[in-house]
Amino acid sequence: METATPKKVIFSAVQPSGTITLGNYLGAIKNWVTMQDDYRCIFALADLHTITVRQDPAAFRRHSLEAYALFLACGIDPKKNPFFLQSQVHTHAELAWILNCYTQFGELSRMTQFKDKSAKHADNINAGLFTYPSLMAADILLYQSDLVPVGADQKQHLELARNIAERFNGAYSPTFTVPEPYIPKVGAKIMSLQEPTRKMSKSDENANSYIAVLDKPDDILRKFKRAITDSEARVHFAPEKEGVNNLMGIYSSITGLTNEQIEVEFEGKGYGDFKVRVAEAVIEELRPVQERYSQLISDKEYLEQCYTEGAQQALSISIRTLNKVMKKIGFLPKKF
Ligand code: TYM
Repeated sequence: METATPKKVIFSAVQPSGTITLGNYLGAIKNWVTMQDDYRCIFALADLHTITVRQDPAAFRRHSLEAYALFLACGIDPKKNPFFLQSQVHTHAELAWILNCYTQFGELSRMTQFKDKSAKHADNINAGLFTYPSLMAADILLYQSDLVPVGADQKQHLELARNIAERFNGAYSPTFTVPEPYIPKVGAKIMSLQEPTRKMSKSDENANSYIAVLDKPDDILRKFKRAITDSEARVHFAPEKEGVNNLMGIYSSITGLTNEQIEVEFEGKGYGDFKVRVAEAVIEELRPVQERYSQLISDKEYLEQCYTEGAQQALSISIRTLNKVMKKIGFLPKKF
């Protein structure tokens, strides 16, 4: 008799910090959607990570609900796999504390995101910003995740999570699955439309530099028309053509075309035509997402029901890992 091999476990999360960008969508969410049937997927909104930067309470609540609805609109199915808010599953903060004690100061100091963010928020370099990667490691390790689909900017954090897992396993006995990063071949690093040497980021002050998933079609078109390219006026991929490469990458991750096929499509055409075509592709990709979003966001009760069920399922899975970890370390067992 054949026994079914258990599905591999995937964990990933996105911060609900206001705008969800085309970078988040192409680098992460779009891939999550395609993985839902083939893997055991566990997805979260990493709202505990978000408070490493000061938040206005009312806006934070609104952004969290909006981000939740937007993910459902993108195609995340909370009935298939748990999709929850990190702050509602207490095991995350608890394991994060424990893992802090298995993470070295030197390792955290080397994180480029910490260096960038502390330069940007020089007035609030809090300890949470510093220990953020141990919380991320806890998120992943609690679910014995095999794979973590992320954009290229999260690779360093993932390597640290692997090191922490290996260290803990070595100090006690095998406890955590050591996770592998799963970084898409195209779309792993969508760049700013205004400064194509920097990644597209929701925290960029210049709104022309990013596309938000909920941007109106006219705004999307305008932003692409203004995107920085170069003076060569020929659509082809070359290392020094960062702006054009980025537009080709966006077009490729939506249409599935290779760079060579894109070069053929735009042979003899200038950047004007190319930018309009990329904008149209993005608008068409996002249209159904935007339509579903406008229905979902008005159904608060449904959203609450989905994230509550997601948290309950996530708790029942993650508590097993937390209990195992606490026992191995030597905490007295709870008798209540
Ligand atoms: P966050 O919220 O900054 O980004 C969420 C996901 O989007 C990807 N991403 C991009 N991909 C391509 N191009 C871009 N310009 C771009 N910008 C962002 C990110 O790589 C990420 O996959 N710490 C994480 C959230 C997190 C997490 C986790 C992720 C918390 N716990 C556990 C994985 C596993 C973060 O702040 O991502």
